[in-house]
Amino acid sequence: MSEKKKNKIGIRIAGACFILSFLAIESSWGQPGTEAMPQIVMKNGRHVLLVDGKPFFMLGGQAHNSSGWPGMMPQVWSAVKSLHANTLEVPIYWEQIEPQAGTFDFSLVDTLVKQGREHNVRLVLLWFATWKNGSNHYMPEWMKHDAAEYPNITGKNGQPVDSPSPHTKAAMEADAKAFTEVMQYLKKADPQHTVIMVQVENEPGSWGSVRDFSPDARKMIEGPVPEELLNPDVLTSLNKPIVAGGTWKEVFGNDADEYFHAWSVAKYIGYIAAAGKSVYPLPLYVNASLREPFSNPPASTYESGGATDNVIPIWKTAAPAIDLLAPDIYLSGSETILKVIDLYNRPDNTLFIPETGSSAEYTKYLYEILAQGGIGFSPFGIDKNGPDADEEELTSPLTTLSREYAMAGPMMRELAKWSFEGKIRAVVEREDHKEQTVDLGSWQAIVSFSAAAGHSVQTNTQAIGKAMIVQLGENEFILIGTLCRFTFQPKGPDAGKAWQYLKVEEGHYENGVFKLLRIRNGDETDWGGPLLGTIPVVLHTKLIIR
Ligand code: DGJ
Repeated sequence: MSEKKKNKIGIRIAGACFILSFLAIESSWGQPGTEAMPQIVMKNGRHVLLVDGKPFFMLGGQAHNSSGWPGMMPQVWSAVKSLHANTLEVPIYWEQIEPQAGTFDFSLVDTLVKQGREHNVRLVLLWFATWKNGSNHYMPEWMKHDAAEYPNITGKNGQPVDSPSPHTKAAMEADAKAFTEVMQYLKKADPQHTVIMVQVENEPGSWGSVRDFSPDARKMIEGPVPEELLNPDVLTSLNKPIVAGGTWKEVFGNDADEYFHAWSVAKYIGYIAAAGKSVYPLPLYVNASLREPFSNPPASTYESGGATDNVIPIWKTAAPAIDLLAPDIYLSGSETILKVIDLYNRPDNTLFIPETGSSAEYTKYLYEILAQGGIGFSPFGIDKNGPDADEEELTSPLTTLSREYAMAGPMMRELAKWSFEGKIRAVVEREDHKEQTVDLGSWQAIVSFSAAAGHSVQTNTQAIGKAMIVQLGENEFILIGTLCRFTFQPKGPDAGKAWQYLKVEEGHYENGVFKLLRIRNGDETDWGGPLLGTIPVVLHTKLIIR
């Protein structure tokens, strides 16, 4: 990671006080019965989510948008079970929770929390409120009826845009009040912390207009840029010249419209998050609909105002109560997705993938997220949804991920800890299927991507192979992967020397202990190193120089 990146603004966890609390937390890891609040901590630029006081990695799955209703939940739980997920992301709806102004109904929230507990699965609740994919379709009916009080934004030519105005204090206060009630309810109803995190809104921003062009908004953008954004660190991280002040256009040039909208949306959501957090401080996040990460496309081509990579510093400044900004990954291509992961993995931003497409091509990024110190991974739409849904068709793309979760679930606490400690390295197969090397100090690992075909081996047809290496000691590793082969070469003073596997143990973890299935040797290691098929395998491996 570059120095510039390390110095990015907004690392809000203060040094000394953090170190003390981290040491306290670390010393309490493994103590049973602790009911510590879920929290994210950071050390040396890496993050970890602590649940019950111990490192936790969300092997997640997200329910479809209209599945958070009691009658729909049985099929959600069955999907969670077949996926082997330990965390369910599930929406809760403002329109259901506050059917009349000031009257709240927490029956659905209550059902979700109770069922989560029964299924021994943690929850991430998604607060579908002012914004859901840029629109306000989850706003309660009594608000939908009052467009004057709760208006949408106006397009450049005065056209209506199906997106709420971030400049409406009444809507912001109403959302903040309802969200605070939800958090208050959770505080009371969930002392076990079944709910470990809450998403505030869903993919906020606007499609169809880069910003609001209403008369009020026009006046605001012609006014001065707020002091906080003129902070030299903020301006530098936005690649803008340091200036003492000016209008949005003067300070931000061609980016003024998008930046103004991002600031307005983030301020609004930051207000709601702060209100909820003040009663119950669970980790909070905002998910983002992405832009193409290489070409700096115009904001008119993506959801403007959301937490896209180019405006992360604006969101961090405007919404400090939001713990992290999380990319929803529906883009495709290895280079593109790895770039997105890199852009959202910052000292001031914990890496978390709350949504991916559900096809098998996304599974390999689970390894990358673990290697990068992320806290969770989740495909969207895991449940059978709608009357015409064909169960087979909808669940099959998740089979590859469910195998990964079945492997990772029993060793989730270890993986989370190793991830936080920076001990995990990962490679994902690229579209050219080329082998990749990983530097491991005294060794170089060489990972090639191939499937076994009878006694011969052939290059994978799809770029879905992946490998993860956990470094436990100088010569000791955990190797995990699918559709790949591992081999090694000694480096440094031992370069060129003969070496061999001291032992390759295949097995799985149970309560923190590695349980042996078999020792791989002979044909299972001799022909170019251990070959891994479509089912992920855990190999506890020691190497020796001869
Ligand atoms: C992204 C949104 O965040 C989800 O709620 C859902 O609408 C998916 N897109 C649909 O693909």
